[in-house]
Parts: sequence; structure tokens; C-alpha cells
Amino acid sequence: MPITLFDNGTHKCIAFPDLVSCDSDEKAGEGSACESVQANQFLIVNNEHAALIDPGGNLTYTRLFMGISDYVFPKNLDYVIASHQDPDIVASLNKWLVGTGCKVVVPKLWKRFVPHFCSPGATKGRLIGIPDEGMDIEIGGAAFKAIPAHFLHSEGNFHFYDPVSRILFTGDVGASLVSDDLCGKPVKDFDAHLKTMEPFHRRYMASNKVCRYWVNMVRKLDVDMIVPQHGSLFQGSAMVGRFLDWFENLQCGTDLLTQGNYRVPGLAA
Ligand SMILES: [Fe+2]
Ligand SMILES: [Fe+2]
Repeated sequence: MPITLFDNGTHKCIAFPDLVSCDSDEKAGEGSACESVQANQFLIVNNEHAALIDPGGNLTYTRLFMGISDYVFPKNLDYVIASHQDPDIVASLNKWLVGTGCKVVVPKLWKRFVPHFCSPGATKGRLIGIPDEGMDIEIGGAAFKAIPAHFLHSEGNFHFYDPVSRILFTGDVGASLVSDDLCGKPVKDFDAHLKTMEPFHRRYMASNKVCRYWVNMVRKLDVDMIVPQHGSLFQGSAMVGRFLDWFENLQCGTDLLTQGNYRVPGLAA
């Protein structure tokens, strides 16, 4: 079921947490037989204009297309916006280009790579690259901010801040592997939730240095909700503060590597 994160009548933010289709009809999630990671997709509607954030790949396309039609006429979708280049973010790009009249907004760093998801010529004149420093994306007269999140985890990566709802969409930052019923819902107990995030962030985030730069930047925004692309979300200033404090101090990625991680299999050290 879609979850309404924000709705003031003219401006809506909708999360779709349960659309990943699995081979065996099993749901993606902790302890599931499904091989595909759960992923949240997001629809922003403002004054009858609309954008999808991180719509996912072929495992979500059909159900997401049907899901957004309760809110907008899909053919009129203004934008598909991708935080980075991963398959669970935007591998369905070709289908959105064929099925709608959308423009596609991607990090400039990946603009020449994402056409590999598409038929030859499908992206012609329809790709907009986000420069490294970020930019505003206008949706129905509202400015939606693409803010830098490079190396968290992708080398060219953006998060999206919506000043109307005060939601920060953070892609893989804050991602958790939780049971299906907790996906797209607020974290209640931060300490208990840590075990669902920590291993992922230690492996997928590049280094503590970039975590600290990102937290310093985010603390300048008025954030009511941090909403990741996998698992649960963080709602309210106290919970957002708990997440920022944890992430600022996280040792991850290259912080944790030693020569021991770089050995030729079968050769003596
Ligand atoms: Fe990713
Ligand atoms: Fe992801």
C-alpha cells in the first residue's frame, strides 16, 4: 500500500514501499526467500505536476506505473529523478521514457552511463545532468533541491530536499533491512534499529570524512523527516538528530580496510 508522507492539498509526497516483485512471489525483506532487496519509490506531486524519485528497475515498473495513476496521469509525469546510477534506483529508465513524456534528471557524472539502460536514441534530448554542486529542480512552481551526497555511496550522488514538506530523501543513506511491515514507516526505537543499518553502512559508505561533511551540510536544513530508499524512515527532530549524531561518528568504507582485504585468493600472504 502507498504511504502518504505529506499532503497539504496541493503538495503531496507518496512512498511506495512494497512493489518489488520477486521470482517466487515472496516479498523482499529480512529473512525472506526473495533475492531482490526491498526498495522504496517516491512520487512528488505539486500543483498537478509530478516527479518520481528513484523509481527502481524492472521489478517495480509495472506496479509503480499503476500505483502513481491514483495520483497523476502517468503520461504527464514531468520528471524521473535518480539519486545515482544503481539498478535498484533507475534500471527501469527505458520503460519510463517510452511510457511517459518525462525528462530524466541524473547526476551529471552518470549522464553518459545511464543510456546503457535504454534503447539506442531513447534518451535523446531528455536527460538533464545535475552538476556536482547540486541544483534546484522546479516541480509545478516549487523548488526541489538536489544536494550533494557524493561517495555516500556512489561517487556522483544526490539527495533531494523538499522545502514544502521538509522531507530529505536520502537514497541509500539511512537504509535499513527490516521486515516488510516496517518499510516506509517511522523508526520507533533508534538503538534497536541500529542493527538493521550498521552492517550496510559500514560496507557501502566510503569513509567517515564524507559522513561528517554531509552531516554538517544537512544540519543547515530544517528537516522533519529523513526518508531512505530502503527500509524505515526517521521522523521528527529528535529522531533526525539521533540519526545525524550516529552517522557523523560512523567508521565505514576505507576507514576499516587493511592489507588483509587485498590478498590474492590461494596465494600465501
Ligand atoms: Fe545504491
Ligand atoms: Fe539502494
